[in-house]
Amino acid sequence: MTEIAEPHEPWWMTGVIYQIYPRSFSDSNADGIGDLRGIEQRLGYLESLGVDAIWLSPIFPSPMADFGYDVADYTGVDPLFGTLDDLDTLIAAVHARGMKLILDYVPNHSSSQHPWFLESRSSRNNPKRDWYIWRDPAPGGGVPNNWISDFGGSSWEWDEATGQYYLHAFLKEQPDLNWRNPEVRAAMIEVLRFWLDRGVDGFRMDVLWHIIKAQGLPDNPINPDYHYGMGQRDEVLQTNSTDQPEVHEIAAEMRRLADSYAGDRVLIGEIYLPTPKLMEYYGTAEAPEVQQPFNFQLIGFPWTAPGLAKLISEYDAAIPPFGWPNWVLGNHDRPRIADRVGEAQARIAAMLLLTLRGAPTVYYGDELGIGRVEIPPDRVQDPAELRQPGIGLNRDPVRTPMPWDGTPNAGFTSGEPWLPLNADWKTRNVAAQIDAPGSMLTLYRRLLALRRTHPALSLGDWRLSPCEGDVLAYERQHADDRLLIVLNLGARPQRVAAPAWAVGGTVMLSTLDSAPMLNGDTLTLHPNEGLIIAPKAA
Ligand code: GLC
Repeated sequence: MTEIAEPHEPWWMTGVIYQIYPRSFSDSNADGIGDLRGIEQRLGYLESLGVDAIWLSPIFPSPMADFGYDVADYTGVDPLFGTLDDLDTLIAAVHARGMKLILDYVPNHSSSQHPWFLESRSSRNNPKRDWYIWRDPAPGGGVPNNWISDFGGSSWEWDEATGQYYLHAFLKEQPDLNWRNPEVRAAMIEVLRFWLDRGVDGFRMDVLWHIIKAQGLPDNPINPDYHYGMGQRDEVLQTNSTDQPEVHEIAAEMRRLADSYAGDRVLIGEIYLPTPKLMEYYGTAEAPEVQQPFNFQLIGFPWTAPGLAKLISEYDAAIPPFGWPNWVLGNHDRPRIADRVGEAQARIAAMLLLTLRGAPTVYYGDELGIGRVEIPPDRVQDPAELRQPGIGLNRDPVRTPMPWDGTPNAGFTSGEPWLPLNADWKTRNVAAQIDAPGSMLTLYRRLLALRRTHPALSLGDWRLSPCEGDVLAYERQHADDRLLIVLNLGARPQRVAAPAWAVGGTVMLSTLDSAPMLNGDTLTLHPNEGLIIAPKAA
């Protein structure tokens, strides 16, 4: 009798990704900065946490003007983090534990110290001149157009030696590559091949929607909604400097390359665009692009049940038939979830993230519920804050060292940590939470374990229940595996009717320690309580 094979789902559909900010995860050599060996020493923790893949923010040689997002060599490892050998060892160690490793790929810009840029700026006739975007001053003098850097100020930097400006969407130390030049495109595709050959399982692609600019570099329109308190970047809309149609053909080429390798290599695009536009980065069934255009909507969205119900339904409905959703609560650029919604609701957020339809990415430290971390002015590191102080752009608070235990510096380093720790690290650390029944870490571990055993959670359909009060409820179902998720997004008790199939069911998991109140067909939720309910066994 021939066995019928189970349909094969690629790991990036069902798996959970864990983002590591390498500077801050674990320091093995006492320089106060995390490194690859440090990460390797913590793989046991990640495996037991129950995540499937690790994404490392950049570990390449870099002057660190933007902490590694200014790459001076796309195919090496910065000595701060270790060596290429260390990376090979880490890849092997991750694979040996059945996990995957994803690198950060920074295609829009290199470091101004990259040999390509040093050549490009050396003279107007240099063969690499056109690898970057150089322009003469505007006819009346001054910058070629009105584009503004994401870090404030003009996107153009004057080069005295060669008498032209070069474009930089971010810092002047991060000149934009000219992706309309076929040589640049070929060289950057080679970078992907280099790492794919070394066995990496995919890439998170930095500001993917930025890489192609409109032909002729026309001015950006003025933003009619600009108001005091926004960063300078928002004075104009990035209509001509980002999201051009030609980006899709490049993304499709990257995908063809990834798909030519065995093992379901994944491409994840960092793309801050609203839903209809974002979907274009899935490509088409014939010419697919990235498997995961990062969906950042849970960041910066008002935390209310009706609001989230609308957001999730609209996003889910907009996914193309061949596409798969994804969700994140935070990353190294945006305030932490426990800071945004408070610790009690951060537990609800964890349950939401890990029970929605789609692939979740967990940001390191969120599993401990790290909240706001104050950075004393003299310890600020982030160029975004240093250039435009005091308007809430500082990313240091979400990049602080991972607190491992109650020993000095929370076991992160035996040196001086490059950023301060969370003030409550003595109690909020891995060792303190790992066996504590009510801890955030325990909640994450239980949620991740439940995802593994319930295809309803990893693969199932998603059906919204009618919204009542502060309660967001939905069902997940895959074949006969069916679960009800009920989340109280408020700080008051709520009473809702349970659907008939869930009456008399079993609470599989609660975000709280207190006994759940399931009475007949009425479900009374404690303040800030989230429940996962399975139907009564038949
Ligand atoms: C992305 C990164 C951010 C970086 C920027 C420029 O948004 O996530 O950290 O500063 O790109 O590379």
